[in-house]
Amino acid sequence: MLKFIVMADLHIVAEGKLSHSLDTNDRFEQAIEFVNSNHGDADFVVIAGDLADHGERAAYERFKSTLEKLKIKSFLTLGNHDHRPTFLEVFGAEQADDTGNVNHVIDANGHRIIVLDSSDSEAGGAGHLEPSQLEWLQSKLDEAKDIPVIIILHHNITKFHVQTDFIILQDNLAFAEIVSSHPDIRQVISGHVHMTTSGTYKSIPFCTFAGCHYSIEPTLETSSGPIPALVARREGPGQIAVILADENSTVVHMENFIDRNLVMASELFGWVSDKSA
Ligand SMILES: [Fe+2]
Repeated sequence: MLKFIVMADLHIVAEGKLSHSLDTNDRFEQAIEFVNSNHGDADFVVIAGDLADHGERAAYERFKSTLEKLKIKSFLTLGNHDHRPTFLEVFGAEQADDTGNVNHVIDANGHRIIVLDSSDSEAGGAGHLEPSQLEWLQSKLDEAKDIPVIIILHHNITKFHVQTDFIILQDNLAFAEIVSSHPDIRQVISGHVHMTTSGTYKSIPFCTFAGCHYSIEPTLETSSGPIPALVARREGPGQIAVILADENSTVVHMENFIDRNLVMASELFGWVSDKSA
């Protein structure tokens, strides 16, 4: 049995600051305590981006310090709120691979887990995979044709018919073509949208989970007009994904470490039309 945890959307800020009224470092500490207490047997933890809220050095240093409380080995990658050069300054250049991105391959208990860095500071919040990363992804899939593969990246790989559809993974078609070349893709797991979903894209199974920051209660597209501009944001749940996998099955449990779900005042958000998850 393979067991691992995915966290995402920490949105850590500098000491003494809050993110939209939320103490995100405290929420991350609660997530760590939850994992240490309930899932100490996990093989590893992946933290799938939006580590820092504004990508600043003080936030990464604070994140690094808090992360030391996690008793399980962790692998990090980045999201649209992150700043890769600053992250690498704090965590070390060796966090980036030959493509210059914070990608990882983890081989554990008969599975290959591929962690992809979909952050791109030029993409306005959307995700991007560079040609070198797509080549890298193809080679890592080709090496593991005979074992199940699980892929983790920050950005969701298809539209969800919600307001944030313009900041999905832009290269989703190229991604799907490459991923479809592997005979046993078990799951693609993402954060980014701050909501819990599951589905398929081009027959590839995916899910997203709410993560550690505020949650978004989506307003869904209808056949009668455009998606309404406002979505409700809630203080919770604070949520992680727990993956249990064996040769026949891959199960993703969404577990809440914070159950509080009060609607947050819209004045806490500095933009009228929400453009960033
Ligand atoms: Fe986020």
